[in-house]
Amino acid sequence: MTEPLDTLFSPLRIGDLTLRNRIVMAPMTRHRATLDGVPTDLMVEHYRQRAGAGLILSEGIYPAFNGRGYLFTPGLHNEAQAAGWRRVTDAVHGEGGAIFAQIMHVGRLSDPLMLDGAQPIAPSAVQPDPVARHYTINCPRPKRPYPQPRAMTHAEVLGVIDDYRNCAVLAQKAGFDGVEIHAASGYLPMQFLSTNTNLREDAWGGSVEKRAAFLLACVDAISAATSPGFVAVKFSPGWTFHNVFDDDPVATYSYAVRALSRRGIAFLELGNYGMDWDVYGVLRPLFDGPAMFVAGYTRQSAAATLNRGEADMIGFGQAFISNPDLAERYRLGQDLTRPDIETYYTQGAEGYTDYPVFADTDPSRLQPVDAAPTPIAPETTG
Ligand SMILES: Cc1cc2nc3c(=O)[nH]c(=O)nc-3n(C[C@H](O)[C@H](O)[C@H](O)COP(=O)(O)O)c2cc1C
Repeated sequence: MTEPLDTLFSPLRIGDLTLRNRIVMAPMTRHRATLDGVPTDLMVEHYRQRAGAGLILSEGIYPAFNGRGYLFTPGLHNEAQAAGWRRVTDAVHGEGGAIFAQIMHVGRLSDPLMLDGAQPIAPSAVQPDPVARHYTINCPRPKRPYPQPRAMTHAEVLGVIDDYRNCAVLAQKAGFDGVEIHAASGYLPMQFLSTNTNLREDAWGGSVEKRAAFLLACVDAISAATSPGFVAVKFSPGWTFHNVFDDDPVATYSYAVRALSRRGIAFLELGNYGMDWDVYGVLRPLFDGPAMFVAGYTRQSAAATLNRGEADMIGFGQAFISNPDLAERYRLGQDLTRPDIETYYTQGAEGYTDYPVFADTDPSRLQPVDAAPTPIAPETTG
């Protein structure tokens, strides 16, 4: 059956914003910033080209130097970085688009190479399994086991929460329409949430309430400094990527989603990267606000999900890498360009700003608009 597409192209209100369609460019780390984390001309052009999305979620951005996990990823904790991001947000707004900044602190998934020799920080001193999955495609981080992290002190936890707040304030100054806290994929907020990475016995660990306290404190600090409609959250509930495990993901995320619902945040992003429980069915009803689902969607499955009233918007990742005009191609039913995984994490224009719009595309690289999506690369940074 062919799904009606009207919902996909209808406007949606999130926070104080009206999005022009329900097609979201999912957050994607692409390693095109300077070594100091400043956005480059290439990034301005990359995001400008993709402004036809109803909403762009930026790549993961570190809110403090100790949150950096990879080379050439951008930050947002100083004026030079904010000035760089201002050029990106101006370019997106100039095309009529909207853009949130994704705040990504990697916690224990860093390396002294990234931190001027310092040891990575984490909720607890739990080293990822040395055989934990590693990047094999060009990803600019050391190809060696993740190091032993150091447990944060109580004062350090408060300091990092303040870094999230400061990052959101800078994001607002830099012209972003909001921020999304990356609480998925085994990064710092998920390290606090999950039972194998959080062995604390103070206010930040133990019960589900205490494991969720870090994330909720970040949300509250950002809401107070900006507004609840300026902050969103991404979860990948129970995903074991990056060696993070939860004894009871249903209980952990049911609690966290209810707590976020009460806070009236802009939206909740849920990524189901192959988890073996009904993530969407269980969690969506607990959140009283706009929900975004992501991972493995096609135009047809996205429209069907919206038409059934399950999600309010759908994220597309890899399809946006190789189709800057993705929303327009979906609207007109035009064929899609296949992405080239080899250039996901390289530096430079190739595979980043040189994918043409439909009219200029080499037909040999095209596939039908509703063909199966590109499988999720096991090595993606997200
Ligand atoms: C190159 C690449 C980088 C990614 N980086 C991030 C990231 O920084 N933050 C994040 O939340 N997800 C990240 N992801 C996950 C995507 O946001 C998305 O959820 C995933 O690609 C699945 O969607 P798709 O099937 O439409 O590609 C990344 C994915 C890819 C392919």
